[in-house]
Amino acid sequence: MGIWMLTTLVLTRGYAGTLMSLLAVRHVRQPYHTLMDVLDDPEVIQIWQKNSANEQLLRSVTSGIYREVMNQEELGLLIFRTQGQLSESLTSLVKPDGHVLIDVDVTVRNLIAGIFSQSGRCDYFVSRDGFLPFYGVVASQKGNPLIPAISKRVMQLTSSGIFEYWFEKQIPNSTSCLITPSTVVERVPLSLASLWGVFVMLAAGLTSSVIAFCLENFITYFS
Ligand SMILES: *[C@@H]1O[C@H](CO)[C@@H](O)[C@H](O)[C@H]1NC(C)=O
Repeated sequence: MGIWMLTTLVLTRGYAGTLMSLLAVRHVRQPYHTLMDVLDDPEVIQIWQKNSANEQLLRSVTSGIYREVMNQEELGLLIFRTQGQLSESLTSLVKPDGHVLIDVDVTVRNLIAGIFSQSGRCDYFVSRDGFLPFYGVVASQKGNPLIPAISKRVMQLTSSGIFEYWFEKQIPNSTSCLITPSTVVERVPLSLASLWGVFVMLAAGLTSSVIAFCLENFITYFS
């Protein structure tokens, strides 16, 4: 009787939990949070910006993770698109799956904000891990004695967060898609089709409890 009650309890709990989660949330797949995650996936195609400093970086390194990225080109897993083609690449390649876009943080966020302003949807997520940092610089004549002083001010400006502030002020909807939850609440009408799992669960539950019940009787009978 003990085992039987325990089995029913576990199955009822499981059933209730499955039903609850079926109705409440949908999980959003977020498989890539580091460059290594991307490299570990033998099928995903990386899109990098064509004719950019990043492309130059990839083509010039001889070792390390960026070299591994470059090695993907001959496997057909690395493609380059010009800056003007990036937005279109997001909607036509990244959204249907199978592609990731790798670029400077502000570029990616700018593109996502632009697409959100048009469609009202956040269809993309930005990886947790950041790389390819973006620096503001002041170029000057070689040997200019003012450079150390200017460098100090540029560093101070960068760490004050003013660039981030300008970005948020200048780019419409720039923060709308920043926090992409890994689960979303879905409001869809219930249909029998969306509840098939529950019926499977019910059938499995009933079957297992019958088996548990029979086993219990069987064991009592022989002891
Ligand atoms: C921000 O996004 C919304 C929703 O897509 C859009 O209606 C609005 O025009 C956007 N704002 C700007 C300034 O583009």
